[in-house]
Amino acid sequence: MSKMHVKMTVNGKAVEGLAEPRMLLVHFLREELNLTGPHIGCDTSHCGACTVDLDGQSVKACTMFVSQANGADITTIEGIAAPDGTLHALQEAFREHHGLQCGFCTPGMITRAYRLLQENPNPTEDEIRMGISGNLCRCTGYQNIVKAISAAADELAGAREAAE
Ligand code: FES
Ligand code: FES
Repeated sequence: MSKMHVKMTVNGKAVEGLAEPRMLLVHFLREELNLTGPHIGCDTSHCGACTVDLDGQSVKACTMFVSQANGADITTIEGIAAPDGTLHALQEAFREHHGLQCGFCTPGMITRAYRLLQENPNPTEDEIRMGISGNLCRCTGYQNIVKAISAAADELAGAREAAE
């Protein structure tokens, strides 16, 4: 199959490459761009380990062809921290509240939570559970993940208030 030229913005940088149009976005990110944060847990859109942020929405990168992401603005877990390496409030909160064990689900979980807190900056516990219901974790029982997202929401709200 002939390759197509694809261009997109990933973590704030313009990138381009040649790819078979049917190549999955998650394979392009991992294999062509060496962004191995988005994990492949199922390859069938069930687990959410491959979640990325695409044009302001959470997307499972294994459900999309790279050709469909042509021109998109994408953020992966590698782009969540500040450029100087300062961790995002969600990353700090996952560490602080033990929101991970093996860490396999964590990049997708944090990337999903990143969008969730923009959709709903002050979510209830139920709203957090619903918001991350497309992301599976085999280890934690979710309790500390929910705590971490709630703590990050409080932290971000405090930072917004301080900036006003
Ligand atoms: S690898 Fe994409 S949802 Fe599981
Ligand atoms: S921490 Fe192991 S799958 Fe979530």
